[in-house]
Amino acid sequence: MLSSFWRRYLDGIPEYLARNYWWAYLSPRGVWFFDHHLIINLILFGQYRAILAEVMRRYVGTQPARTLQLSCAYGALTPTLALAPNTRELHVADIAAIQLTATRKKLHAVSRSAAMVRMNAETLAYASNSFDSVILFFLLHELPAAARERTLREAIRVLRPGGHLLIAEYAENRGHHPLHRFTPWRWTQERLEPFLHDFWHSELHAQIHRYAVQQGKVLHPVDATTLFGGLYRVMEYHA
Ligand SMILES: C[S@@+](CC[C@H](N)C(=O)[O-])C[C@H]1O[C@@H](n2cnc3c(N)ncnc32)[C@H](O)[C@@H]1O
Repeated sequence: MLSSFWRRYLDGIPEYLARNYWWAYLSPRGVWFFDHHLIINLILFGQYRAILAEVMRRYVGTQPARTLQLSCAYGALTPTLALAPNTRELHVADIAAIQLTATRKKLHAVSRSAAMVRMNAETLAYASNSFDSVILFFLLHELPAAARERTLREAIRVLRPGGHLLIAEYAENRGHHPLHRFTPWRWTQERLEPFLHDFWHSELHAQIHRYAVQQGKVLHPVDATTLFGGLYRVMEYHA
């Protein structure tokens, strides 16, 4: 009974999301609980504002943009993007209706709106080369490897030449950070986030480069910023 509890959340949701993350993103109580600055900041060891500030520092330096935020995120990312002077048109795509509703409320609170669409990041219904900016905020580590690959390929496909890809994520785990060596934390984290281990040990930069080349694109990396001693990173690419 308990083992199939998550099935009630399937309803157009990928199985990996319903099975592993129903409690965080799909249940109304989960959404209510997690979407508080205090909680997000605790999960990110007090780094939430610094990560968001780094994403925005890089974003506001770009040309006026048709921007795609690929999946909702708890916290202030969407309203901050909506208020940024260089956001011309903001699109937010997420597979979970409950997340889109919560994000819409945050936009309403700052008197802004966005095109909010229920869509799987693995198969985007957008034309190729149709966005100036694509932003992924802590999405990739939550996806199984195959879904992560499809999502990255789609993010690159919809990015126009001259456009700008921004990724905020966990940094690679090369066993250097004290927390990577702290087994109780690592063990707990990998139980709560079952695809994190694979993500930590994947070659994200090489994958992005390869997927771009396969689409006839070149993505030029801008120096990444690492935060909290290398636990997190913000990556930037120019197409
Ligand atoms: C971007 S991550 C956010 C992670 C981070 N904990 C935060 O809130 O900042 C979680 C979001 O991704 C969405 N999501 C997960 N898999 C998806 C997929 N394949 N397509 C679209 N959205 C997806 C979930 O519905 C959820 O709203």
